[in-house]
Amino acid sequence: MSGVKVGVVGAGYVGLTTAVCLAERGLDTACVDLDAAKVDRLNAGDPVIDEPGLPLLLRSGLAARKLCFDTDYAALADCDVVFVCVPTPSGADGAADLRAVESAVDTLGRVLTAPAVVALKSTVPVGTTRRMAARLRDRGLSVASIPEFLRESHAIYDFRNPDRVVIGSETPRAAALLRQVYGVGSQRTFEMSPESAELAKYASNAFLAVKLSYANSLARLCAHAGADIADVTRCMGADVRIGGHFLQPGPGWGGSCLPKDTAALLHAGRDAGVDLPEVAAARTTNDVQAERIASTLQRLLPDALPDARITALGLTFKANTTDVRDSPALRVCGGLTAAGAQVSGYDPRLGSIDPATLHRCGVVGVDDPYVATKGANAIVVLTEWSQFRDLDWPSIAEQAPGAVVLDTRNLLSRDAIAGTGLRYLGNGTVGGY
Ligand code: UGA
Repeated sequence: MSGVKVGVVGAGYVGLTTAVCLAERGLDTACVDLDAAKVDRLNAGDPVIDEPGLPLLLRSGLAARKLCFDTDYAALADCDVVFVCVPTPSGADGAADLRAVESAVDTLGRVLTAPAVVALKSTVPVGTTRRMAARLRDRGLSVASIPEFLRESHAIYDFRNPDRVVIGSETPRAAALLRQVYGVGSQRTFEMSPESAELAKYASNAFLAVKLSYANSLARLCAHAGADIADVTRCMGADVRIGGHFLQPGPGWGGSCLPKDTAALLHAGRDAGVDLPEVAAARTTNDVQAERIASTLQRLLPDALPDARITALGLTFKANTTDVRDSPALRVCGGLTAAGAQVSGYDPRLGSIDPATLHRCGVVGVDDPYVATKGANAIVVLTEWSQFRDLDWPSIAEQAPGAVVLDTRNLLSRDAIAGTGLRYLGNGTVGGY
């Protein structure tokens, strides 16, 4: 594919993964980010974010001179296609804030040469691609929607092995170029209008959120009914119409995408006069998960929450990341400290978490799980880091005699924990909560 030059705007999870993976495919790739310090680090081979496989691809792309980073959009001037991967955070009313996308598109309009293609990877509301296309039409540039479906901590794998590549474009030439750049077989490449592509992304994330909230509600019912959520979801998941993924209960769902995308979809529905009660209910269910954990502890601890010493195991929004954006673990911690509990938190990646974020939730970060659990009345497993299974639980039991272990992720072995004398409660399990 020599000769095609690609650009990326935004060196976050999506942009950086896209850039290093395109360079790996042999494409000359330039990535622009406004953060000069980040650009310097990336050019020096420092991956900046913690993503499996990223360091190697970054360094090999730089060494092969297939990849470069810059703060100046001029570096993109001769690109055939530029992927826009900037954030679209939630505004106060739930609507996506498009200022970063609009600014990137306008700047690209000034530097690119016709007939370059601007491909929007940022998650944007329906109609955005067409609106951006109108802004650039006079310049002979086209705009397409190519939503991203990769998961943090699996980003490189997902880029190399996509379930689907969605191309929303009204311009056959732009669609052909994007197909060529991705090189994914036609069975997994879905071409459609920009509106359908934009909505497909929101619809997918919202469906995942609905599925997770349903699993969390079922877990609650299981605990009351004496059933086991693992058996119930195993049975459900074996039905190919349902599928076994995203049925694992937890402390609620979070991260940088599901909360904001469900809010933006509801906002779009309101604008269009279309209710999406399933999505609204999924958010309501999610909002009560932290309270469900707090009230369980309130009931179990003899001295109740205000005097309790609680240890949070896991602070990131899921395992194998350093990301704490909209972390359900921190939501739970914030609820417990608001109720008067003293909360200490351990996470395998504590060193990469901004102490100010922990401070805002009232959590004292402790970089040793044994020190963090010492003297605890309750130990709450909030993130599914596999290393929590391998902790020396008998020694934790000695240092925190009689403590309650609330396993919101059903990560630990009930028998192993109960065998140490600690009281174990799983999420939606027999004898659990
Ligand atoms: C999510 C989607 O999964 C991606 O497809 C999408 O590309 C991405 O958002 C995005 O829009 O950019 P991500 O935010 O990385 O990816 O996180 P997930 O792996 O989806 O996890 C979301 C939340 O659900 C986490 O809090 C996780 O712990 C929770 N979860 C996930 C469960 O509680 N149970 C499960 O079975 C799975």
